[in-house]
Amino acid sequence: MTTVLQGPQLARLLGRWQGGRNVPDYAALAATVRGLVSDGRLPLGVRLPAERELAVALGISRTTVSAAYRTLRETGHLTSRRGAGSWTTMPGGARVGHHGLWALASDADLLDLGSAALPAPPQLAAAAAEALDDLPRYLSGPGYLPSGLVELRAAVAQLFAARGLATGPDQIMITSGVQHALDLALRLLVPAGQPVLVESPTYPNALAAIVGRRGRVLTHGLLPESGWDAELLLATLRQNQPRVAYLVPEFQNPTGHLMAQPLRERLPRAAHVSGTDLVVDESFVDLTLDETPLPPPVASFDRHARVLSIGGMSKPFWGGLRIGWIRAAAPLVQRLAALRIGVDMAGPVLDQLVAARLLRYRDAVLAQRRPELRAQRDALVSALATELPEWRLRVPAGGLSLWVELDAPISGALSRAAQSYGVRLAAGPRFGMDGTMERYLRLPYTLPAGQLTDAVKRIAAARGDLDRPARRTWESPALVA
Ligand SMILES: Cc1ncc(COP(=O)(O)O)c(C=O)c1O
Repeated sequence: MTTVLQGPQLARLLGRWQGGRNVPDYAALAATVRGLVSDGRLPLGVRLPAERELAVALGISRTTVSAAYRTLRETGHLTSRRGAGSWTTMPGGARVGHHGLWALASDADLLDLGSAALPAPPQLAAAAAEALDDLPRYLSGPGYLPSGLVELRAAVAQLFAARGLATGPDQIMITSGVQHALDLALRLLVPAGQPVLVESPTYPNALAAIVGRRGRVLTHGLLPESGWDAELLLATLRQNQPRVAYLVPEFQNPTGHLMAQPLRERLPRAAHVSGTDLVVDESFVDLTLDETPLPPPVASFDRHARVLSIGGMSKPFWGGLRIGWIRAAAPLVQRLAALRIGVDMAGPVLDQLVAARLLRYRDAVLAQRRPELRAQRDALVSALATELPEWRLRVPAGGLSLWVELDAPISGALSRAAQSYGVRLAAGPRFGMDGTMERYLRLPYTLPAGQLTDAVKRIAAARGDLDRPARRTWESPALVA
């Protein structure tokens, strides 16, 4: 379904769009829409208001809106069809995804700091070869196993036990990635229109999943230095009684915060009192980069079956595996598995065998990953200190990215400017609601150190450009003498 934006809604998103005295209104309007599209606040495929309607909402002439839309069509940010209206697009072969996701056609020189994901570990090939030996055991059965392969469920249960949380295979369901786990949990737990509490900022695809399930998003603002404000979070649960709270306690994406033990201890009980289920996303739990031991899992303080822990192999191993899981009370796992049949029946057997084999290499994979990531994190921090010393950041003790406070609310403009230097950035507003977070930028350290240093130099050049007045381009000499 195409989202249709009404005039007043777009007017609100545009904010103070008019440029200085030297910028004609149509050009300023087009530039602002381009900005909104590029940083994701205006998703792709959204139908913009008719020219007349937008003109009324902005109190300007229809000719100005027409000229702005024409400019946007010329730059590839708008596509129009007579009778069907105009909808947002991206130039240069960008593909439109369901929630405004776009990916450029491949560009060898592009430094992609838009996503925080690692390449596959070298052990994957061996695990895949070994999995083929395991496959014949399954070939005589139908292969539909909605809760997942028992051997993988047992291996995942063992991971929880190793963190001090006794877990049986019947408490584990294998999913196609963590995103799938979240979507299933939301399907089961959140009727349309019910409130779901999230951290702000948070992982954008979690927001997409909640909005996609018609949940009503409530936010808990994280503090820049310390993350969760325990009293405020517990009061929000009490007062708003959200159906679900979605939290990322280990190296929160994007801020990197780690939730301290006292709040972990209090959360499950407070959630029980407010009738809230806690969906705890442990995607980054294996990616500790410092020596400090992690606090126990939130689920270890749960006495009322209120916690669903979701996690998976995408961050420590490889996103292309598409293996995630849910740990919950056994009856809840059964309900989730039954629900899954109406979604995708079951996960692929062979992929789960590969995952089970790969988990046997876990120690070796992590022993390699952690020092590499630590070195990359430190290279990124030091390049930023050299090139952009006025930016502020906290060095996270784990995870895959820095959450950087910029010197001005320029995240969207900067990510657009960085494109022309061959750097793809995910601007701060992608991680917030309603166009907030313009002062922040998430910078992953998943690329090799040399590329990160190069990327920071390019970002610094793009930052410099923002302070220079836009260069005028003359199409023909104004006066020839
Ligand atoms: C917090 C969080 N949850 C879930 C996911 C998605 O994981 P998966 O690729 O396993 O679906 C990510 C990926 O970036 C993430 O950062």
